[in-house]
Amino acid sequence: MSVERTFVAVKPDGVERGLVGEIISRFEKRGLKLVGLKQMQVSNDLAEKHYGEHKGKPFFDGLVKFITSGPIVAMCWEGKGAIATCRNVIGATSPAAAAMGTIRGDLAMDISRNLVHGSDGPESAVREVSLFFGPDDLVSKWDRTIEKWICE
Ligand code: RTP
Ligand code: MG
Repeated sequence: MSVERTFVAVKPDGVERGLVGEIISRFEKRGLKLVGLKQMQVSNDLAEKHYGEHKGKPFFDGLVKFITSGPIVAMCWEGKGAIATCRNVIGATSPAAAAMGTIRGDLAMDISRNLVHGSDGPESAVREVSLFFGPDDLVSKWDRTIEKWICE
């Protein structure tokens, strides 16, 4: 299994409820490595780009309104199979269906207030990480053999 980077965000409800530390802790404890982190206000333009795949769906306008309603905490997590692992830590989209032990299963009640976003595949992970972070925002590691900083 290859090392991946994925985009995760604590949504405005998670920030508002004071759950940022709890949520970060669950990814850390699982063994993922935090390589990017920033609290930010999402603009309308960024929200529409980020959730572009849902444009035209009945919940799209509400989703954009919600994600822009307060600060989020944007993160990039790294690890072997990190994309699927983060989705497993987060749980099913609807908290009612999310398993206990997952963030949504333990801490949420409402599909439109489900606390966390996670990239759903390799293409969205690359797209979303680069929407929210520049290369200088992410930690790299020094590779002695090629004497360069690398991002894996
Ligand atoms: P996310 O993108 O936020 O990580 O959530 P997800 O992959 O689990 O779910 P997705 O299908 O991408 O939907 C994005 C967000 O839209 C809201 N939603 N509402 N039927 C509905 O009312 C409905 N379906 C989706 C959820 O807040 C979901 O997280
Ligand atoms: Mg999604």
